[in-house]
Amino acid sequence: MSNLNTETVTSVHHWNDTLFSFTTSRDPGFRFKNGHFTMIGLEQEGGRPLLRAYSIASANYEEELEFFSIKVPDGPLTSQLQKIQPGDKIYVSRKPTGTLVADHLRPGKRLWLLSTGTGLAPFMSIIKDPEIYDQFDQVILTHGVRYTSELAYREIIENELPNNEFFGEYVRNQLLYYPTVTREPYRNKGRLTDLMTSGKIFEDLNLPTPNLDEDRFMLCGSPAMLKDLTDILDGWGFRESRGGHSHEYVIERAFVEK
Ligand code: A2P
Repeated sequence: MSNLNTETVTSVHHWNDTLFSFTTSRDPGFRFKNGHFTMIGLEQEGGRPLLRAYSIASANYEEELEFFSIKVPDGPLTSQLQKIQPGDKIYVSRKPTGTLVADHLRPGKRLWLLSTGTGLAPFMSIIKDPEIYDQFDQVILTHGVRYTSELAYREIIENELPNNEFFGEYVRNQLLYYPTVTREPYRNKGRLTDLMTSGKIFEDLNLPTPNLDEDRFMLCGSPAMLKDLTDILDGWGFRESRGGHSHEYVIERAFVEK
């Protein structure tokens, strides 16, 4: 297949029963922007590949590629993908693309990265991008999940990235992380939509209510989450960047039904 690279799985990490991440080798010619997604997949009987869209969770300067996935028991791809082991082969499309790119936004002061579930993946790439901290004074990463066990990458965001030798200082000074859980007790509770309309998230973070001059948003989650959050943003007067016109927010579906 001319548009597919064949990569080798280098590590697999299972966060819980429903979520896992894995890394692969990276073709030296594979270029992408932080926030992009690409098609990945496995060879099926008969030699045909089964592919699905996945956001790239690693940053574009890293040697390996990283992906974050749910496990759907009867999902055509993830039922197989969850069993991968180091050394296995995986297809990665040579044509990454996507809208979660800071260049698609008007300049602003604060960048809000609003995610639920595996919608976190593209933002893991973006928060490791030193350029994002030049473009915005503050970057706020939210991750909404049902259960605390789904707060994948929490340790890395809270403990590893602030100590990174290259960009740790940016993270310490400019990144705010707001995990929130809906179905069991946690320090932040409730859906992002409710936390925004009530203003609780802004109070908790000690930030002003978003305004058109200063605040920009990237959204990644389920279709329902995107609909409800964009309704809120639209109601506040924010506009989606489209057709080459930069406005205040961009969206991408978390590619969930795998
Ligand atoms: P809830 O537990 O109230 O459904 P999912 O795994 O279904 O994608 O959900 C991930 C997180 O996103 C959960 O905390 C869930 O809350 C929340 N969520 C689901 N639908 C929406 C929505 N329309 N707007 C905001 N958050 C949502």
